[in-house]
Amino acid sequence: METMDTECKVCGGTGWKSLPAQASPAGGKKPSPQVARCDCRIGAKTNRLLANARIPKRYEHCSLESFHTEFEGKHAKSLADARLNAGRFVEEYPIQGQGLLFTGSIGVGKTHLAVGIIKALIETKGIDCLFFDYRELLKQIQNSYNTSVNATELGILRPVFDTEVLVLDELGAAKPSEWVWDTVSLIINTRYNDKRTTIITTNYPDGDAASAEIDQLQRTARPLTLGDRIGDRMRSRLHEMCKIVDMRGKDFRQQVQSANFR
Ligand SMILES: Nc1ncnc2c1ncn2[C@@H]1O[C@H](COP(=O)(O)OP(=O)(O)O)[C@@H](O)[C@H]1O
Ligand SMILES: [Mg+2]
Ligand SMILES: [Zn+2]
Repeated sequence: METMDTECKVCGGTGWKSLPAQASPAGGKKPSPQVARCDCRIGAKTNRLLANARIPKRYEHCSLESFHTEFEGKHAKSLADARLNAGRFVEEYPIQGQGLLFTGSIGVGKTHLAVGIIKALIETKGIDCLFFDYRELLKQIQNSYNTSVNATELGILRPVFDTEVLVLDELGAAKPSEWVWDTVSLIINTRYNDKRTTIITTNYPDGDAASAEIDQLQRTARPLTLGDRIGDRMRSRLHEMCKIVDMRGKDFRQQVQSANFR
């Protein structure tokens, strides 16, 4: 962390550095002195954005560079593709205009890639990003209804609506209820209407909700889908907002334990 009183050797603490004079264009006027933002301030901005992004401690180590792709076996391509999609997303941002929706079982590296993306966006493009765990967000909103808590619903939601890139981690992990569905719709629709980019991870396969006609027995035999957890309407909205990236593999932590990786 920079402190303002240790003076920068490049800019002397002004935050501006002068650039070498450019060769004047043919027949052009005398070049005027050029200045640019000094790296010391770029560093300060990056640090501020990183601090504001609310990346949990347990994911601080996650970056695109630290995501392994040199696996063997039938799932190798799926993870290499996911890493490729993540890197391309950062490079092309904001041209593409679409977010990413990472699906896959627990431990395949969905959150790792989502965090890696926003860290790269902050570091290379100075983009304002925010990480929120879905259950944690719902809990904070619910808490704000408690009159003894000094927070309002909008106070919590405002940054979620406004941040340029939002990571919503483990979408669908909270038990569905009417209130949960209303709240998810509010968040997703607001970001959709404002054309903001959202990166989502979910442990649920991207499928339709069970129809009411399916009898109870069949419904319980069938694995739950994203549609079951957030509703078909929100799921199809997400299809408009995000590119689906399905990740297949084993739980990475078990692979490490089984000493395939060091
Ligand atoms: N391909 C990978 N390369 C490096 N670390 C990984 C990889 N996949 C997962 N991890 C690590 O394993 C742990 C679990 O991954 P995580 O992203 O939380 O999985 P998911 O969100 O899919 O459940 C994290 O600590 C993560 O950094
Ligand atoms: Mg995760
Ligand atoms: Zn400086």
